[in-house]
Amino acid sequence: MVAKTGILYGISVGTGDPDLITVKGVRLLQQASVVAFPMGVGNQSGIAQTIISPWLISEQETCPLSFPYVQNEEELRLAWKQSAEQVWSYLQQGKDVAFACEGDISFYSTFTYLAQTLTYYYPSVKIKTVPGVCSPMAVASVLNLPLTVRNQRLAVLPVLYTLEDLEQTLGWADVVVLLKVSSVYPQVWEILRRLNLLEHAWVVERATQPGQVIYDELEKQSNLRLSYFSLLIVHVKPSDPHS
Ligand SMILES: C[S@@+](CC[C@H](N)C(=O)[O-])C[C@H]1O[C@@H](n2cnc3c(N)ncnc32)[C@H](O)[C@@H]1O
Repeated sequence: MVAKTGILYGISVGTGDPDLITVKGVRLLQQASVVAFPMGVGNQSGIAQTIISPWLISEQETCPLSFPYVQNEEELRLAWKQSAEQVWSYLQQGKDVAFACEGDISFYSTFTYLAQTLTYYYPSVKIKTVPGVCSPMAVASVLNLPLTVRNQRLAVLPVLYTLEDLEQTLGWADVVVLLKVSSVYPQVWEILRRLNLLEHAWVVERATQPGQVIYDELEKQSNLRLSYFSLLIVHVKPSDPHS
């Protein structure tokens, strides 16, 4: 008898604090025979792997998948194909696979490439996802600020790739969230300084993780050395509750 094909669950595990995963996420994570996650760099655990470690059950198989930090399309496609093959081999045996994703699964996640590649090569694949806490929400909570209120317009830029759009975006948005800010921080700082916006900007590094750092008073911080897990938020037009 041919075993029923397993299901791939894409599970949002939140931004760092293991308690930020949803109840549904934990349930599906623990029910899956195989738990996959992006492999860490060097000998270190990946961030999603670290977040879920308190929730794993000892009988579960783990499946680290390689998603290299490279720009080369060919290299990336090969890595996604290899990861898809690994996951498919478990699904074909009738095993469910839970893929743990840092933050939210639909928000700039490597899971999307895995899911698209699997669907391309194995169209019968069954995939379900569980939403979760993404980094802008976590950062707003850490700063004790609302992300947006009333009629405010929110813009999100992965600024490493969209630096040229920043100034124009600051012209129309009320709140701007910059992901992937670490390597372009000095250029972003210069633009915010010129537009007089540093007073209403914050950087949060490793939000909700053990090494969390909040940077305010950015006027004094033109050259921060930030880790990849850093996000900058600017309240371009701060809300006035009495207006
Ligand atoms: C590829 S995106 C992944 C986003 C993730 N799926 C989410 O829901 O937030 C990576 C970027 O998200 C931001 N980020 C993710 N987690 C973060 C955290 N815990 N603290 C600060 N920034 C974070 C950083 O800007 C980082 O460069």
